[in-house]
Amino acid sequence: MKAIVVTDRAAGKAGMKLVARPDPDVARLASLEGANYGDVVVEVHASGFTGNELDWPSTWVDRLGRDRTPSIPGHEVAGVVTALSYGAAGLSVGQRVFGLTDWTRDGTLAEYAVVEARNLAPLPGDVDFTTGAGVAMAGLTAWQGLFEYGHLVAGQSVLVHGAAGAVGSVAAQLACEAGAYVIGTGRAVHRQTALDFGVQEFVDLENDTLEDVGRVDLVFDVFGGDIGNRSASLVRTGGTLVSVAGPPEARPIGGRALDFVVVSDRAQLGEIAQRVRHGRLRTHIGRVAGLDDAVAALNSTDHISGKTVIRIRP
Ligand SMILES: NC(=O)c1ccc[n+]([C@@H]2O[C@H](COP(=O)([O-])OP(=O)(O)OC[C@H]3O[C@@H](n4cnc5c(N)ncnc54)[C@H](OP(=O)(O)O)[C@@H]3O)[C@@H](O)[C@H]2O)c1
Repeated sequence: MKAIVVTDRAAGKAGMKLVARPDPDVARLASLEGANYGDVVVEVHASGFTGNELDWPSTWVDRLGRDRTPSIPGHEVAGVVTALSYGAAGLSVGQRVFGLTDWTRDGTLAEYAVVEARNLAPLPGDVDFTTGAGVAMAGLTAWQGLFEYGHLVAGQSVLVHGAAGAVGSVAAQLACEAGAYVIGTGRAVHRQTALDFGVQEFVDLENDTLEDVGRVDLVFDVFGGDIGNRSASLVRTGGTLVSVAGPPEARPIGGRALDFVVVSDRAQLGEIAQRVRHGRLRTHIGRVAGLDDAVAALNSTDHISGKTVIRIRP
């Protein structure tokens, strides 16, 4: 199969190469000798890559900390199940699926990926593969940050940083739908995009004063650093700062501060898929490229807002 691999951590995305790799060993996977109980083989149709993935330690080592290069990056997937291992539950051969793959295993910038069944959910027939791959990470991250960790409920206010970006735009839409008052942030050029994703107010971090938003019940932070620190003081007593950019340095007085790493969740993917197919949730996909053009697309210096999705099959 064709796959994109990385071997040199220092080279970053410039070190990505399109190479030939062995297909998954389906016979071994299906046998009791395969040991990968619970895995399925996915014929990848679309793959999503997060911009800073090659900085994550999990790209380079397995769960025991051993070098696992050459590694295949890209951990968002939409495709079709072509084989099941012993113990793979809830999916069948020929089923359309989407989800997130394990950070410490080969990913989805390849014609096939071996994925734990529990990390995948059915992708409805009326949601295309590009959308499925483009919404998995952003959707789950936003869902978990707002509802699991942020405990957001109707009537509360939430400050969503990076509201025109992949994760922030989904967080803005989910929070609006949940009945929250949503204030988005970003650069000046993002104002209209963020408003189109449903934010009621927008703070242009280049020209406005963040502190003018007053107090909020929840901050959903994708930036960390100075913006994250200043945001802690905006959380009202009993509120929460949730970060997806690493552990918060500053803590709200009388509130909680936490960070998390997204995990795949079949039930949450189902909620996300239903919202997408009914037009209640849109993904911000900025660029789509084929596998042969993927290394160039992922290394492009053109600034394109939104997620890059690689169509592995046309
Ligand atoms: N912990 C987790 O589980 C988890 C999961 C998913 C993502 N993440 C992290 O979340 C972050 C966001 O991911 P994403 O996919 O949403 O990225 P993204 O699509 O690039 O979104 C970030 C948004 O914030 C804007 N922005 C960046 N720096 C800014 C600044 N200084 N001032 C104002 N706006 C700024 C970006 O604008 P420009 O495009 O113009 O730069 C973009 O609109 C990444 O660091 C990613 O690694 C973490």
